[in-house]
Amino acid sequence: MKTELRELLVCPACRGGLAWQVRECDGDHIEEGEARCTGCGASYPVREGIGLFLTPDLSRRDLWEGAESGLSAYLREHPEVERALLETPLEELSPADRFFRALLLEERGEFAEARQAEEAANLGLYTYEYRSCLRSQLEYVVERVSAVGNPVIDLASGRGYLAEELTRRLDRHIVLTDFSPRILRRNRRYFEFLGFYREVSLIACDARQLPFQAGGVRTMTTNLGLANIEAPGDFLGELRLVVAGEFLAISHFFTDDVVENAEVIKKFGLETFLFKNSALERFARAG
Ligand SMILES: C[S@@+](CC[C@H](N)C(=O)[O-])C[C@H]1O[C@@H](n2cnc3c(N)ncnc32)[C@H](O)[C@@H]1O
Repeated sequence: MKTELRELLVCPACRGGLAWQVRECDGDHIEEGEARCTGCGASYPVREGIGLFLTPDLSRRDLWEGAESGLSAYLREHPEVERALLETPLEELSPADRFFRALLLEERGEFAEARQAEEAANLGLYTYEYRSCLRSQLEYVVERVSAVGNPVIDLASGRGYLAEELTRRLDRHIVLTDFSPRILRRNRRYFEFLGFYREVSLIACDARQLPFQAGGVRTMTTNLGLANIEAPGDFLGELRLVVAGEFLAISHFFTDDVVENAEVIKKFGLETFLFKNSALERFARAG
């Protein structure tokens, strides 16, 4: 994480100030250190350049942890599947297998080949309309962010699709946040591969309990992050507290008249942000 980000950070549990002990810096990045809350005494380490601002009281289902370690474990037991995944010509693999190949190549640090496999997967996984809609939404966010200052906080960054687009196109300090330390460790290696690691900060935090000062965030973005937040509770109230400027959220909505979709969405408790009316109603309620 960049040293300048310290000014914006507070304790996510009690919103107290932080006393910093920096053990290792690389240029303007803190690589190893610790922040201790001057209010409640909680401590938050910085390891391998990633600030870890998670609290023990919220339960989390880290799907990256499950998916990636599950894939590795399965392939260790079935080396013939791993061989088939890596050696079959890309165009002969199903779109889902192309994506698994991308994940596997990434774990090995082969990012260029992984990207090729992922792009091929996306062509089969998503329709032309979906892809062009997402592209125009990304363009809109890039244009808006080009008019604002630093830093830009990206919420639920996942594999950093939006963060990469912003970093590639704009000279901005982008803060990638996610509650999965595993995906942030992957992002560190990936942004190093891209040559953009110097431009970003990586912060592990929960969107429902953010480690940013009240009113301190001028610009926050998210690409499909909202719908992934389980048990959101008063998560929009938390955003309202920390974001004093603009919140740019790319969201895709389902219509609630298709019964099959609606049933599955409700079964997994995802209705708040996957239906437009309920999302807008929540935003209005949060002010
Ligand atoms: C589909 S990804 C978002 C895509 C990403 N924004 C991009 O541009 O590539 C959703 C992410 O939300 C994260 N997530 C889910 N619940 C969260 C929470 N409560 N706080 C922070 N991140 C969360 C997941 O770990 C996952 O990485």
